[in-house]
Amino acid sequence: MLIPDCWYAVLESREVIAGKPLGVRRLGEDLVFWRDGQGRLSVLKDRCPHRSSQLSLGKIVAGRLQCPFHGFEYDGDGACQLIPANGRAAHVPRVFQCRVYPTQEAHGFVWVWHGRPRDEYPPVPWFGGLEDFAHATTSKEWDVDMSRAIEGLLDVSHLPFVHARTIGRNGRTLVNGPYTTLEDDTIRVWVTNQPDEGLPAARPTQLPPPDKPPSLEFRFPNAWMLRIADRFRIVNVVAPVEEGRCVNYLRSYFKTSLPAALVRLVGRLGNFYNLRILAEDYVVIRSQSPRVGDLDIGEHFIPADRPIAVYLQHRRDLIEAAASLAAESANEAP
Ligand code: FES
Ligand SMILES: [Fe+2]
Repeated sequence: MLIPDCWYAVLESREVIAGKPLGVRRLGEDLVFWRDGQGRLSVLKDRCPHRSSQLSLGKIVAGRLQCPFHGFEYDGDGACQLIPANGRAAHVPRVFQCRVYPTQEAHGFVWVWHGRPRDEYPPVPWFGGLEDFAHATTSKEWDVDMSRAIEGLLDVSHLPFVHARTIGRNGRTLVNGPYTTLEDDTIRVWVTNQPDEGLPAARPTQLPPPDKPPSLEFRFPNAWMLRIADRFRIVNVVAPVEEGRCVNYLRSYFKTSLPAALVRLVGRLGNFYNLRILAEDYVVIRSQSPRVGDLDIGEHFIPADRPIAVYLQHRRDLIEAAASLAAESANEAP
């Protein structure tokens, strides 16, 4: 189940090109993303209120989204502005209002609000300090639930096994800690793995508070960042398509004075390597059952799994908090 009442990064901004509606499934819904004459992005349910045709098969006409079936025209707020068969002069009944989803663009992503509409929305959950970094993106769709994909990103003990030929080559099988915090809907993890020299692994509580930035950060509901070096980060946004399916948006971030063309080349090479690592993860993550990760499903955690346990517990807490808020406001309603 998706955590309600938050912004999800669901697409890259550049995927929604002017003049061409894009129909994709995200957040368990068929959605149409399109830009009006001013380039303003709008996200509507991809189903015409008239006779249920997919609006994404239509076209943009004078800044409006025109349904391919009978030519009804919708504005960026989902309001039908024209029913051609009734004539230009006719009033458009309000039933022809298409469902509209709150959206915004930030950090090169399209964000969609999943939950009850609000008067004011919180900022999108993103990472500080990336402003002067250049980045290159690649993406990979998985028939894997976003929960399992995120668990995999927070798993600090699988590297020497799943990635034995890539990032786990150094044989650091022993997991000290990891020191893990949860604050402001952000999980931070300091990874201190090492080769097993016969000493027991340090428990998370035995580690002193770290004096350096975290190795991993995860911002609920779906953005993860790995700090490889001060000037080099990997970001993975896990966009939910529907239960059991997600898209990994993988980005390499560099802070460099190299010329832009060279940065793009390095970014592409970095992403090529990232996709290889992701393919290694896919084999094991796809094999997990049940398909949706949760607490109390008969799995047994070890101390190294602490970030995963923190993720699952906080996801549950956020879902419960949203449900009780919804119940409260239902009670208050006249
Ligand atoms: S189904 Fe869209 S205009 Fe008729
Ligand atoms: Fe992995």
